[in-house]
Amino acid sequence: MKHLIDPTDITVEETDEIIHLALDIIANPKKYAEHCKGKKLATLFYEPSTRTRLSFTAAMMELGGNVLGFSEAASSSTAKGESVQDTAKTVSCFADLIAMRHFIEGAPFAASKVSGVPIINAGDGSHSHPTQTLTDLLTITRELGRLDNFTIGFCGDLKFGRTVHSLIKSLSTRSNVKVVLIAPQELRLPGYIRHDVCERLGVEYKEVSTMEEVMPELDVLYMTRVQKERFLDEDEFDRVKDSFVLDRKKMALAKRDMAVLHPLPRVNEILTEVDSDPRAAYFRQVENGKFVRMALICKLLDWKNDPEHDTPIHYEAFEDKTRCCSNAKCISNLEKVPLLFRHTENGPDRCIYCDNKPRE
Ligand code: NCD
Repeated sequence: MKHLIDPTDITVEETDEIIHLALDIIANPKKYAEHCKGKKLATLFYEPSTRTRLSFTAAMMELGGNVLGFSEAASSSTAKGESVQDTAKTVSCFADLIAMRHFIEGAPFAASKVSGVPIINAGDGSHSHPTQTLTDLLTITRELGRLDNFTIGFCGDLKFGRTVHSLIKSLSTRSNVKVVLIAPQELRLPGYIRHDVCERLGVEYKEVSTMEEVMPELDVLYMTRVQKERFLDEDEFDRVKDSFVLDRKKMALAKRDMAVLHPLPRVNEILTEVDSDPRAAYFRQVENGKFVRMALICKLLDWKNDPEHDTPIHYEAFEDKTRCCSNAKCISNLEKVPLLFRHTENGPDRCIYCDNKPRE
Protein backbone atom coordinates (compact mmCIF):
# COMPACT_ATOMS: atom_id res chain seq x y z
CA MET A 1 0.00 0.00 0.00
CA LYS A 2 1.17 3.48 -0.78
CA HIS A 3 0.71 6.45 1.55
CA LEU A 4 1.62 10.01 0.63
CA ILE A 5 3.09 11.56 3.76
CA ASP A 6 6.16 13.21 2.31
CA PRO A 7 6.95 14.12 -1.32
CA THR A 8 9.77 11.56 -1.26
CA ASP A 9 7.23 8.75 -0.71
CA ILE A 10 6.64 8.83 -4.46
CA THR A 11 9.42 8.33 -6.98
CA VAL A 12 10.05 10.76 -9.83
CA GLU A 13 8.37 8.23 -12.15
CA GLU A 14 5.29 7.95 -9.92
CA THR A 15 5.14 11.75 -9.61
CA ASP A 16 5.26 12.07 -13.40
CA GLU A 17 2.54 9.42 -13.74
CA ILE A 18 0.27 11.49 -11.48
CA ILE A 19 1.00 14.68 -13.44
CA HIS A 20 0.38 12.97 -16.79
CA LEU A 21 -2.87 11.51 -15.52
CA ALA A 22 -3.93 14.98 -14.30
CA LEU A 23 -3.23 16.37 -17.79
CA ASP A 24 -5.36 13.59 -19.32
CA ILE A 25 -8.17 14.31 -16.85
CA ILE A 26 -8.05 17.98 -17.88
CA ALA A 27 -8.25 16.99 -21.56
CA ASN A 28 -10.91 14.24 -21.16
CA PRO A 29 -12.93 14.84 -17.99
CA LYS A 30 -15.87 12.64 -19.11
CA LYS A 31 -13.62 9.59 -19.31
CA TYR A 32 -13.11 9.72 -15.52
CA ALA A 33 -16.64 10.65 -14.40
CA GLU A 34 -17.34 7.18 -12.93
CA HIS A 35 -13.78 6.15 -12.18
CA CYS A 36 -14.32 6.05 -8.40
CA LYS A 37 -17.96 4.96 -8.34
CA GLY A 38 -18.64 3.20 -5.04
CA LYS A 39 -15.42 4.48 -3.44
CA LYS A 40 -15.21 6.73 -0.40
CA LEU A 41 -12.67 9.35 0.59
CA ALA A 42 -12.54 10.51 4.23
CA THR A 43 -11.28 14.05 4.85
CA LEU A 44 -10.12 14.46 8.46
CA PHE A 45 -9.23 18.12 8.92
CA TYR A 46 -8.03 19.23 12.37
CA GLU A 47 -6.89 22.62 11.03
CA PRO A 48 -8.59 25.31 8.89
CA SER A 49 -8.63 24.83 5.12
CA THR A 50 -10.52 26.10 2.09
CA ARG A 51 -8.68 24.96 -1.04
CA THR A 52 -7.21 21.68 0.12
CA ARG A 53 -10.32 20.21 1.70
CA LEU A 54 -12.79 21.47 -0.88
CA SER A 55 -10.57 20.47 -3.80
CA PHE A 56 -10.30 16.94 -2.37
CA THR A 57 -14.10 16.89 -2.05
CA ALA A 58 -14.65 18.26 -5.57
CA ALA A 59 -12.04 15.83 -6.94
CA MET A 60 -13.78 12.78 -5.46
CA MET A 61 -17.19 14.04 -6.63
CA GLU A 62 -15.93 14.52 -10.19
CA LEU A 63 -14.66 10.93 -10.12
CA GLY A 64 -18.13 9.71 -9.15
CA GLY A 65 -17.11 8.78 -5.60
CA ASN A 66 -18.32 9.90 -2.18
CA VAL A 67 -16.79 11.90 0.66
CA LEU A 68 -17.20 11.74 4.45
CA GLY A 69 -15.28 13.37 7.27
CA PHE A 70 -14.99 16.38 9.54
CA SER A 71 -13.59 19.88 9.14
CA GLU A 72 -12.75 20.59 12.77
CA ALA A 73 -11.43 18.43 15.55
CA ALA A 74 -14.04 19.73 18.02
CA SER A 75 -16.78 17.79 16.23
CA SER A 76 -14.86 14.49 16.34
CA SER A 77 -13.96 12.17 19.20
CA THR A 78 -10.62 14.01 19.46
CA ALA A 79 -12.56 16.30 21.79
CA LYS A 80 -13.05 13.25 24.07
CA GLY A 81 -9.34 12.49 24.03
CA GLU A 82 -9.09 9.94 21.21
CA SER A 83 -5.63 9.54 19.70
CA VAL A 84 -4.80 10.19 16.05
CA GLN A 85 -3.96 6.52 15.57
CA ASP A 86 -7.26 5.29 17.02
CA THR A 87 -9.19 7.76 14.85
CA ALA A 88 -7.30 6.62 11.75
CA LYS A 89 -7.90 2.95 12.53
CA THR A 90 -11.59 3.67 12.99
CA VAL A 91 -12.06 5.71 9.84
CA SER A 92 -10.17 3.17 7.74
CA CYS A 93 -13.11 0.82 8.44
CA PHE A 94 -15.42 3.28 6.64
CA ALA A 95 -13.38 4.72 3.77
CA ASP A 96 -11.07 3.58 0.97
CA LEU A 97 -8.70 6.51 1.39
CA ILE A 98 -8.03 9.14 4.08
CA ALA A 99 -6.80 12.72 3.59
CA MET A 100 -5.66 14.17 6.92
CA ARG A 101 -4.64 17.70 7.86
CA HIS A 102 -3.31 18.21 11.38
CA PHE A 103 -1.63 20.94 13.41
CA ILE A 104 0.48 18.22 15.07
CA GLU A 105 3.60 17.47 13.04
CA GLY A 106 3.94 13.82 12.12
CA ALA A 107 0.25 13.03 12.82
CA PRO A 108 -0.42 11.69 9.28
CA PHE A 109 2.74 9.58 9.47
CA ALA A 110 1.63 8.07 12.79
CA ALA A 111 -1.81 7.44 11.25
CA SER A 112 -0.22 5.64 8.29
CA LYS A 113 1.43 3.18 10.66
CA VAL A 114 -1.94 1.77 11.78
CA SER A 115 -4.36 2.57 8.95
CA GLY A 116 -5.81 -0.16 6.75
CA VAL A 117 -6.18 2.31 3.84
CA PRO A 118 -3.82 4.83 2.22
CA ILE A 119 -3.24 8.06 4.17
CA ILE A 120 -2.65 11.32 2.34
CA ASN A 121 -0.96 14.08 4.31
CA ALA A 122 -2.98 17.23 3.57
CA GLY A 123 -0.58 19.35 5.65
CA ASP A 124 0.99 18.68 9.08
CA GLY A 125 1.93 21.76 11.10
CA SER A 126 4.85 23.59 9.52
CA HIS A 127 6.37 20.32 8.35
CA SER A 128 5.08 19.02 5.03
CA HIS A 129 2.33 19.41 2.41
CA PRO A 130 2.90 16.94 -0.44
CA THR A 131 -0.42 17.41 -2.29
CA GLN A 132 0.28 21.13 -2.57
CA THR A 133 3.61 20.08 -4.08
CA LEU A 134 1.79 18.01 -6.73
CA THR A 135 -0.39 21.06 -7.41
CA ASP A 136 2.71 23.23 -7.78
CA LEU A 137 4.42 20.71 -10.08
CA LEU A 138 1.37 20.51 -12.35
CA THR A 139 1.18 24.30 -12.39
CA ILE A 140 4.87 24.69 -13.28
CA THR A 141 4.44 22.04 -16.01
CA ARG A 142 1.50 23.92 -17.50
CA GLU A 143 2.99 27.41 -17.14
CA LEU A 144 6.59 26.68 -18.16
CA GLY A 145 6.20 23.48 -20.17
CA ARG A 146 8.91 21.71 -18.16
CA LEU A 147 9.98 20.54 -14.70
CA ASP A 148 13.73 21.00 -15.14
CA ASN A 149 16.14 23.78 -16.09
CA PHE A 150 14.56 26.72 -14.31
CA THR A 151 15.19 29.13 -11.47
CA ILE A 152 12.61 29.44 -8.71
CA GLY A 153 12.53 32.10 -6.02
CA PHE A 154 10.80 31.28 -2.72
CA CYS A 155 9.71 34.42 -0.94
CA GLY A 156 8.25 35.05 2.53
CA ASP A 157 7.93 32.59 5.37
CA LEU A 158 10.38 29.85 4.52
CA LYS A 159 10.65 28.73 8.15
CA PHE A 160 7.05 27.76 8.85
CA GLY A 161 5.80 27.41 5.26
CA ARG A 162 5.23 23.67 4.79
CA THR A 163 4.49 24.08 1.07
CA VAL A 164 8.00 25.46 0.56
CA HIS A 165 9.65 22.59 2.44
CA SER A 166 7.85 19.94 0.40
CA LEU A 167 8.33 21.64 -2.97
CA ILE A 168 12.08 22.09 -2.44
CA LYS A 169 12.39 18.42 -1.44
CA SER A 170 10.58 17.37 -4.59
CA LEU A 171 12.49 19.73 -6.90
CA SER A 172 15.78 18.31 -5.57
CA THR A 173 15.03 15.24 -7.74
CA ARG A 174 14.84 17.31 -10.96
CA SER A 175 17.79 18.43 -13.01
CA ASN A 176 19.18 21.94 -13.02
CA VAL A 177 16.59 23.60 -10.81
CA LYS A 178 18.16 26.60 -9.09
CA VAL A 179 16.64 27.87 -5.87
CA VAL A 180 16.72 31.45 -4.58
CA LEU A 181 15.60 32.00 -0.98
CA ILE A 182 14.15 35.43 -0.18
CA ALA A 183 13.25 35.74 3.50
CA PRO A 184 13.92 37.83 6.59
CA GLN A 185 16.57 36.39 8.92
CA GLU A 186 13.86 35.23 11.35
CA LEU A 187 12.04 33.22 8.67
CA ARG A 188 14.95 31.43 6.97
CA LEU A 189 14.53 27.92 5.59
CA PRO A 190 15.04 25.30 8.36
CA GLY A 191 18.49 23.76 8.62
CA TYR A 192 17.32 20.26 7.77
CA ILE A 193 16.16 21.40 4.33
CA ARG A 194 19.24 23.54 3.68
CA HIS A 195 21.67 20.83 4.79
CA ASP A 196 19.95 17.45 4.31
CA VAL A 197 18.21 18.41 1.07
CA CYS A 198 19.96 21.29 -0.72
CA GLU A 199 23.57 20.66 0.28
CA ARG A 200 23.54 16.88 0.40
CA LEU A 201 21.60 16.47 -2.86
CA GLY A 202 23.50 19.23 -4.63
CA VAL A 203 20.67 21.71 -5.21
CA GLU A 204 22.17 25.04 -6.23
CA TYR A 205 20.77 27.68 -3.89
CA LYS A 206 21.45 31.17 -2.61
CA GLU A 207 19.92 33.37 0.06
CA VAL A 208 19.21 37.03 -0.70
CA SER A 209 17.55 39.83 1.25
CA THR A 210 15.62 41.76 -1.43
CA MET A 211 13.24 40.71 -4.19
CA GLU A 212 14.49 43.41 -6.58
CA GLU A 213 18.00 41.96 -6.87
CA VAL A 214 16.76 38.60 -8.18
CA MET A 215 13.49 39.34 -10.00
CA PRO A 216 15.11 39.45 -13.48
CA GLU A 217 16.57 35.93 -13.15
CA LEU A 218 13.48 34.06 -11.95
CA ASP A 219 11.33 31.73 -14.08
CA VAL A 220 9.00 31.05 -11.14
CA LEU A 221 8.31 33.28 -8.15
CA TYR A 222 6.73 31.31 -5.27
CA MET A 223 5.17 33.77 -2.82
CA THR A 224 4.04 32.65 0.64
CA ARG A 225 2.02 34.00 3.55
CA VAL A 226 3.72 34.65 6.88
CA GLN A 227 2.22 31.83 8.99
CA LYS A 228 0.76 33.83 11.88
CA GLU A 229 -0.64 30.73 13.62
CA ARG A 230 2.84 29.20 14.03
CA PHE A 231 4.43 32.13 15.93
CA LEU A 232 4.85 31.85 19.68
CA ASP A 233 5.55 35.57 19.98
CA GLU A 234 3.07 38.06 18.46
CA ASP A 235 5.60 40.94 18.45
CA GLU A 236 7.90 38.87 16.30
CA PHE A 237 5.06 38.24 13.85
CA ASP A 238 4.32 41.99 13.70
CA ARG A 239 7.98 42.70 12.95
CA VAL A 240 8.15 40.38 9.93
CA LYS A 241 4.58 40.21 8.62
CA ASP A 242 4.97 42.70 5.77
CA SER A 243 8.58 41.96 4.86
CA PHE A 244 7.95 41.28 1.18
CA VAL A 245 5.09 42.56 -0.92
CA LEU A 246 4.71 41.85 -4.62
CA ASP A 247 3.34 44.79 -6.58
CA ARG A 248 3.27 45.97 -10.22
CA LYS A 249 6.55 47.82 -9.80
CA LYS A 250 8.40 44.63 -8.88
CA MET A 251 6.62 42.67 -11.63
CA ALA A 252 8.06 45.17 -14.12
CA LEU A 253 11.55 43.87 -13.24
CA ALA A 254 10.67 40.23 -14.02
CA LYS A 255 10.90 38.13 -17.17
CA ARG A 256 7.95 38.43 -19.54
CA ASP A 257 7.12 34.76 -19.06
CA MET A 258 7.84 34.35 -15.33
CA ALA A 259 5.02 32.56 -13.44
CA VAL A 260 3.88 33.78 -10.02
CA LEU A 261 2.69 30.95 -7.77
CA HIS A 262 1.21 31.16 -4.28
CA PRO A 263 -0.43 28.24 -2.42
CA LEU A 264 -2.96 30.77 -1.03
CA PRO A 265 -4.54 32.13 1.09
CA ARG A 266 -2.77 35.46 0.61
CA VAL A 267 -2.85 38.20 3.18
CA ASN A 268 -0.76 41.25 2.16
CA GLU A 269 2.09 39.70 0.23
CA ILE A 270 0.60 40.06 -3.27
CA LEU A 271 -1.32 43.25 -4.04
CA THR A 272 -4.55 42.63 -5.95
CA GLU A 273 -3.22 44.93 -8.69
CA VAL A 274 -1.00 41.98 -9.73
CA ASP A 275 -3.98 39.63 -10.29
CA SER A 276 -4.70 40.90 -13.82
CA ASP A 277 -1.07 40.34 -14.91
CA PRO A 278 -1.03 37.25 -17.20
CA ARG A 279 1.96 35.96 -15.23
CA ALA A 280 -0.15 35.69 -12.05
CA ALA A 281 -0.78 31.94 -12.04
CA TYR A 282 -2.10 31.50 -8.49
CA PHE A 283 -5.77 31.11 -9.33
CA ARG A 284 -4.95 28.72 -12.17
CA GLN A 285 -2.87 26.88 -9.55
CA VAL A 286 -6.01 26.49 -7.39
CA GLU A 287 -7.82 24.69 -10.22
CA ASN A 288 -4.79 22.50 -10.88
CA GLY A 289 -5.08 21.40 -7.24
CA LYS A 290 -8.42 19.72 -8.00
CA PHE A 291 -7.15 17.95 -11.13
CA VAL A 292 -3.97 16.68 -9.50
CA ARG A 293 -5.92 15.40 -6.48
CA MET A 294 -8.25 13.54 -8.87
CA ALA A 295 -5.17 11.92 -10.39
CA LEU A 296 -3.68 11.15 -6.98
CA ILE A 297 -6.88 9.49 -5.74
CA CYS A 298 -7.01 7.28 -8.88
CA LYS A 299 -3.36 6.30 -8.55
CA LEU A 300 -3.43 5.53 -4.82
CA LEU A 301 -6.49 3.31 -5.33
CA ASP A 302 -4.74 1.55 -8.26
CA TRP A 303 -1.52 1.12 -6.29
CA LYS A 304 -3.27 -0.12 -3.14
CA ASN A 305 -2.92 -3.80 -4.03
CA ASP A 306 0.30 -3.57 -6.02
CA PRO A 307 3.41 -4.36 -3.93
CA GLU A 308 5.57 -2.68 -6.57
CA HIS A 309 4.10 0.61 -5.41
CA ASP A 310 4.43 0.13 -1.66
CA THR A 311 5.52 3.10 0.42
CA PRO A 312 9.30 2.88 0.36
CA ILE A 313 11.33 2.45 3.51
CA HIS A 314 13.53 5.32 2.44
CA TYR A 315 15.28 5.63 5.74
CA GLU A 316 16.09 3.11 8.39
CA ALA A 317 14.27 4.09 11.54
CA PHE A 318 15.48 3.01 14.96
CA GLU A 319 13.76 3.29 18.30
CA ASP A 320 15.54 5.15 21.08
CA LYS A 321 13.62 5.40 24.33
CA THR A 322 16.36 7.49 25.97
CA ARG A 323 15.85 10.57 23.78
CA CYS A 324 12.87 12.61 22.64
CA CYS A 325 12.24 14.97 19.75
CA SER A 326 13.19 18.64 20.33
CA ASN A 327 9.99 19.84 18.64
CA ALA A 328 7.16 20.45 21.13
CA LYS A 329 4.61 20.23 18.27
CA CYS A 330 5.75 16.75 17.21
CA ILE A 331 3.32 13.87 17.68
CA SER A 332 6.01 11.92 19.53
CA ASN A 333 5.81 14.52 22.33
CA LEU A 334 2.02 14.72 22.35
CA GLU A 335 0.71 11.18 21.91
CA LYS A 336 1.92 7.68 22.74
CA VAL A 337 3.89 6.56 19.69
CA PRO A 338 7.30 4.83 19.52
CA LEU A 339 10.28 7.26 19.67
CA LEU A 340 11.77 6.77 16.23
CA PHE A 341 14.83 8.43 14.69
CA ARG A 342 17.00 8.08 11.60
CA HIS A 343 20.71 8.69 11.09
CA THR A 344 21.81 11.30 8.53
CA GLU A 345 25.04 11.52 6.59
CA ASN A 346 27.48 13.83 8.42
CA GLY A 347 24.66 15.40 10.40
CA PRO A 348 22.60 15.00 13.55
CA ASP A 349 19.99 12.24 13.88
CA ARG A 350 16.47 13.31 12.92
CA CYS A 351 13.02 12.50 14.28
CA ILE A 352 11.11 10.23 11.87
CA TYR A 353 7.85 12.09 12.44
CA CYS A 354 8.89 15.72 11.92
CA ASP A 355 12.59 15.82 10.86
CA ASN A 356 13.71 17.81 13.91
CA LYS A 357 16.78 16.95 15.98
CA PRO A 358 16.42 14.87 19.14
CA ARG A 359 16.75 16.71 22.43
CA GLU A 360 19.98 15.29 23.87
C1 NCD B 1 -1.18 26.42 2.47
C2 NCD B 1 -1.15 25.54 3.70
O1 NCD B 1 -2.19 25.20 4.26
O2 NCD B 1 -0.04 25.21 4.09
N1 NCD B 1 -2.45 26.52 1.88
C3 NCD B 1 -2.91 25.53 1.08
O3 NCD B 1 -2.96 24.37 1.43
N2 NCD B 1 -3.27 25.88 -0.17
C4 NCD B 1 -0.51 27.72 2.65
C5 NCD B 1 -0.88 28.61 3.78
O4 NCD B 1 -1.74 28.32 4.60
O5 NCD B 1 -0.27 29.68 3.87
